Amino acid sequence: MKIKIAMIGFGNVGQGITRILHAERQTLLIDHGFDFEIVGIFGRSKGSVLAAEKGTDTSQVLKSFDSQGDLLALDGADSELTAMDIIERSGADILLEMSPTDLETGQPAIDYIKAAFKQNVHVVTCNKGPVALAMHELLELAEEKELQFLFEGSVMAGSPVINLATQNLAGAGITSFKGILNGTTNFILTRMKQGADYQAALAEAKDLGYAEADPTNDVEGYDAAAKGVILSNLLTGAETTLNDVACTGISHLTIEDIESAREKGQIIKVLVEADLCEAMPEISVGPVHLPLDDPLAAINGAMNAITFETKILGPVTISGPGAGREETGFAMLADMLQIHKMNG
Ligand SMILES: NC(=O)c1ccc[n+]([C@@H]2O[C@H](COP(=O)([O-])OP(=O)(O)OC[C@H]3O[C@@H](n4cnc5c(N)ncnc54)[C@H](OP(=O)(O)O)[C@@H]3O)[C@@H](O)[C@H]2O)c1
Repeated sequence: MKIKIAMIGFGNVGQGITRILHAERQTLLIDHGFDFEIVGIFGRSKGSVLAAEKGTDTSQVLKSFDSQGDLLALDGADSELTAMDIIERSGADILLEMSPTDLETGQPAIDYIKAAFKQNVHVVTCNKGPVALAMHELLELAEEKELQFLFEGSVMAGSPVINLATQNLAGAGITSFKGILNGTTNFILTRMKQGADYQAALAEAKDLGYAEADPTNDVEGYDAAAKGVILSNLLTGAETTLNDVACTGISHLTIEDIESAREKGQIIKVLVEADLCEAMPEISVGPVHLPLDDPLAAINGAMNAITFETKILGPVTISGPGAGREETGFAMLADMLQIHKMNG
C-alpha cells in the first residue's frame, strides 16, 4: 500500500526530500517495502497542489518545479490553497512539516501539527520552533491518538543525533552533552583561525548561504540554544525553555583571542553544553576554549558534532552535516521509514 505524504513548505528541505524520494524510489521499495505518493504540497509563493484522489508523483512535481520554478503545472495545483487545506483535505498518512522556524512562538507550525493529529496523521518535522517550545504537549497529543511525532532533522539535520541519544544510547545513562550544533558560527570561527576577521568571516558565511541576512539567531547562540533545549527536554522530560539557556554570542571575538587560545594549545569553539544530572537541566551556549585533543576541536567549517557523556560507555561522539537541502531531507526520510516500520 502506498504511503500518502503531504508536505508543508517546498523550500530547501521540501525540495531536498522530494529529490531523495525521486532518486531512491526503487531502493526504498525493494529494501524497505516503502512505497509512496504525494497527496498535497503547500508551497506558498511556489503554488500548492492538492492531489487527494489520484496522488501525484515526484517526477511530475520536479518537472513542474524545475521547468517553471513553481508547482502550478501539476494536476490539482491551485495558488489559493492554504496550508490547512492541505492538512485537512489531502487524506495524508504522514505530514512533513517544513515551514520556517519561529523560536518565539513556534507558530504556525504548532497549529499545523495539531491539525494533522486531529486528522489522525503522523507528523515529521525538522522545524526547531514547535519542538523547542511544545515538544511534550505535541508528543502527548500524538500518543493519545497512537500517532508518531518525529523530529530527527531539528538537531544536526540528517546526522542521527536524536535516534542515537534516545534509541542507541538508551540505558547507557547520558549525564551530559556538549556539541557544536551551529554550522554558521563554526564556519566563522574556522575562517578566523585561518586569519579572517569576524566581519569578513560573517560576510563569507552569508555569501555561501550558511548565514541568513539577519544572522542574529546564529551568532548570538539562539539557534544552538534551541537544539540544546530540544535534546535536554527529550532526554530528561524537563520543560526548559530558551529563557533558561545562558547564551553568549561570538561577535566580540577577535583574531587575537583565537591566536591567544592557540598559543595555549587550545581552540575556541561555540559549544552547547548541558548537564542533565539535576531535575532541571543546566544549558549554556557560547565560545569555549577546548584542548586540541578533544574530538570536537577537529570539527571545521559548517560541520556539526556532539559528544554524549554516558555512565556505561564514557564519551560517545558523532559528527556530520548539520544543515543542507538533502542532508535535512534525509532526516525526513529516516523518520518516515521509522513510522513505516512501526506501523508495518
Ligand atoms: N535548510 C536547512 O538546512 C535546515 C536544516 C535543519 C532544519 N531546517 C528547518 O526546516 C524548515 C524549512 O527550512 P528550509 O530551509 O526549507 O526553509 P525555506 O527554504 O525558507 O522554505 C520554507 C517553506 O515554507 C513556506 N512557508 C513560508 N511561510 C509559511 C507559512 N506561514 N506556512 C507554511 N509554509 C510557509 C515557504 O514559502 P515561500 O517560499 O513562499 O516563503 C517555503 O516553501 C525550517 O523550520 C528550518 O529551520 C532547515
